[in-house]
Amino acid sequence: MLNFALVGCGRIAKRHSELLGNKQIPDARLAAVCDIKFEKAERIGAQFGVPAYADMHEMMRSNAIDVVVVLTESGHHERDVIALAPYGKHIMVEKPMALTLSGADAMVRVCDASGCKLFVVKQNRFNVPVVKLREALEQGRFGKLVMGTIRVRWCRDQSYYDQDGWRGTWALDGGVLTNQASHHIDLLEWMMGDVETVFAKGATALVNIEAEDTAVVVLKFKSGALGIIEATTAVRPKDLEGSISILGETGTVEIGGFAVNQMKVWNFVHPVPGDEEVMTKYSVNPPNVYGFGHQAYYEHVVDCIINGTQHLVDGSVGRQSLQLINAIYESIETGLEVRVGEGVHESFLGGAK
Ligand SMILES: NC(=O)c1ccc[n+]([C@@H]2O[C@H](COP(=O)([O-])OP(=O)(O)OC[C@H]3O[C@@H](n4cnc5c(N)ncnc54)[C@H](O)[C@@H]3O)[C@@H](O)[C@H]2O)c1
Repeated sequence: MLNFALVGCGRIAKRHSELLGNKQIPDARLAAVCDIKFEKAERIGAQFGVPAYADMHEMMRSNAIDVVVVLTESGHHERDVIALAPYGKHIMVEKPMALTLSGADAMVRVCDASGCKLFVVKQNRFNVPVVKLREALEQGRFGKLVMGTIRVRWCRDQSYYDQDGWRGTWALDGGVLTNQASHHIDLLEWMMGDVETVFAKGATALVNIEAEDTAVVVLKFKSGALGIIEATTAVRPKDLEGSISILGETGTVEIGGFAVNQMKVWNFVHPVPGDEEVMTKYSVNPPNVYGFGHQAYYEHVVDCIINGTQHLVDGSVGRQSLQLINAIYESIETGLEVRVGEGVHESFLGGAK
């Protein structure tokens, strides 16, 4: 049985605490929670009968913790992981792992030095249709990849950004690319492979925030395939879709729904047994845009720790996705096409400039 502790008891902590506190993850339990706004920790602590703290160091010293889960504002992940790593416990951190590449590198370094595993939450990789798509790719069913597209068309109005001071700021959050679409950007690169260049435009269309609520990106992958990112939180009056489509020489797959959860197209030049039921069998309606993936992600983390299996999204995988996002911001800010991985990709994100 692994003991999990939460640092940060805000919105996403509800999902984490319910999974752990309601014993929905085999071999895992909620052991303690903390938030600098103590009343938030107290509320979750009381709900699940676990001790609550205002100080993460006191929590780490007072409890037998196996995994500490960092659920603080994105721009604080670096600070909090670096503070927690010396305890030598495994660390799970919500997406995005950090805002700057230097921050991500520092996080990987401290975790390596203290011998703990660093897990970055990318729960959409575990969505039922996404797992099926990845399987088809690994089997080579697409042949030569031609184009990959993601669309995030969600609705986040001013009241969403106003609920907490950090949302939409360069120092602690970023815009739609860093926050909402970071899952889909991760999926696109996971499916299509490394990106060579990006050319992007961003706009702050309908809300008053520092960062962008709308962006488009043209990508060229190292394989020669092309890609498109369309991301906005300026859809009104409600969420429209979160989708990915992969087009290859011998196959086309599109996954849509609000949260990359519905198989929309499953067409292959060379069908195999079972293809006929994919459309109905591999779609799941999630309760919200976070999807069901957190449960599968936790099960994966437990499996990695108990059985020593390779984790799917470690610090270096989280960094790769962050590098792409930073390169996209560099393109938006300079107006130039940017070669991914060349230079440090400094942008306003993380207050680096
Ligand atoms: N995977 C997903 O689908 C998903 C969904 C939502 C949010 N997130 C990510 O989760 C993170 C948190 O988002 P949120 O919406 O829950 O934010 P939030 O503002 O609701 O909660 C953050 C909490 O962290 C607390 N905190 C800050 N510093 C602390 C410290 N040193 N010690 C203890 N507590 C501290 C704050 O007081 C706050 O209560 C963000 O990085 C976000 O991108 C991921």
